[in-house]
Amino acid sequence: MMNSHVCPYVLSHYQVSAISEARQAGQNSAAISLDLGLTQTSVQIHTDYISLPDDQQLTWSQLELISRNELTCYTISGGEIEKIQFYSDFQNRFYSLMPTLRAPTMLISGIPMHRIKDTDPHRDTLSKIRAVSPVVGPVLDTTMGLGYTAIEAAKAAEHVTTIELDPTVEEVCRRNPWSQGLFDNPKISRLIGDAYDVIEQFEDGSFSRIVHDPPMFSLAGDLYSADFYRQLLRVLKPRGRLFHYIGDPKSRSGSGVTRGVVRRLHEAGFQRVKPRPEAFGVVAYN
Ligand SMILES: C[S@@+](CC[C@H](N)C(=O)[O-])C[C@H]1O[C@@H](n2cnc3c(N)ncnc32)[C@H](O)[C@@H]1O
Repeated sequence: MMNSHVCPYVLSHYQVSAISEARQAGQNSAAISLDLGLTQTSVQIHTDYISLPDDQQLTWSQLELISRNELTCYTISGGEIEKIQFYSDFQNRFYSLMPTLRAPTMLISGIPMHRIKDTDPHRDTLSKIRAVSPVVGPVLDTTMGLGYTAIEAAKAAEHVTTIELDPTVEEVCRRNPWSQGLFDNPKISRLIGDAYDVIEQFEDGSFSRIVHDPPMFSLAGDLYSADFYRQLLRVLKPRGRLFHYIGDPKSRSGSGVTRGVVRRLHEAGFQRVKPRPEAFGVVAYN
């Protein structure tokens, strides 16, 4: 379902430091981003406040609040700041949008949803998509999250279908400038539900590529089961490819989970499973 929707301005401690530095240097304006690094704009610096291009004003105490919170981005609307953080009754956990120097990630009860150590969520996404390149035909993205894999895949795919279990995640996406393709790219369809069940509604051979980027094994065992892998195989077109994100293959847990995943992918009927350690996952071929 497509919704027309405009993402509000978003600030994090990174932009506030740039504004503070400009102020300390005696400048009356600062070039910063109001969409977490996607574009640059200029804000005017006054003694008691700053003004944004649409004439909204933010006081220095509001900016200070933002700068003190390194784990959460803030929306700016009507001169008010609001944390991009939501509690999900459904999953009984907090989601918040955490800034990085590039695309933000989402913290799920404090755990980042993307790789941020020695990389960033954008590069993490590119490595997942590169693993199933060339991206062709219709693509299934089993777990939407912030939609980065869906948005990146949609650049080359005919169409992308993406599934998300928790509607609250979509609320975070609406406020994340980097997730806007989910709402304005007609090549992306969003479905809310459990991928384990939703997959049954797709006909055999519906997708040329599948990106499977589930939560860690301990949180979503069903999505690592041979039953689910049989469904992934069923909906894959001949000569299709599945990328399965698993986690750091060099870590103890990652290597153990990888062995189990490879065994169950074969058990489900995938012909070949190739490690893609740079993408922290494997690619399976039918
Ligand atoms: C690692 S994140 C996916 C990140 C995503 N690939 C991106 O580019 O931002 C996993 C997501 O799967 C969702 N999820 C968890 N269990 C699910 C299920 N059974 N079906 C669909 N989505 C699920 C979580 O809420 C979370 O948003």
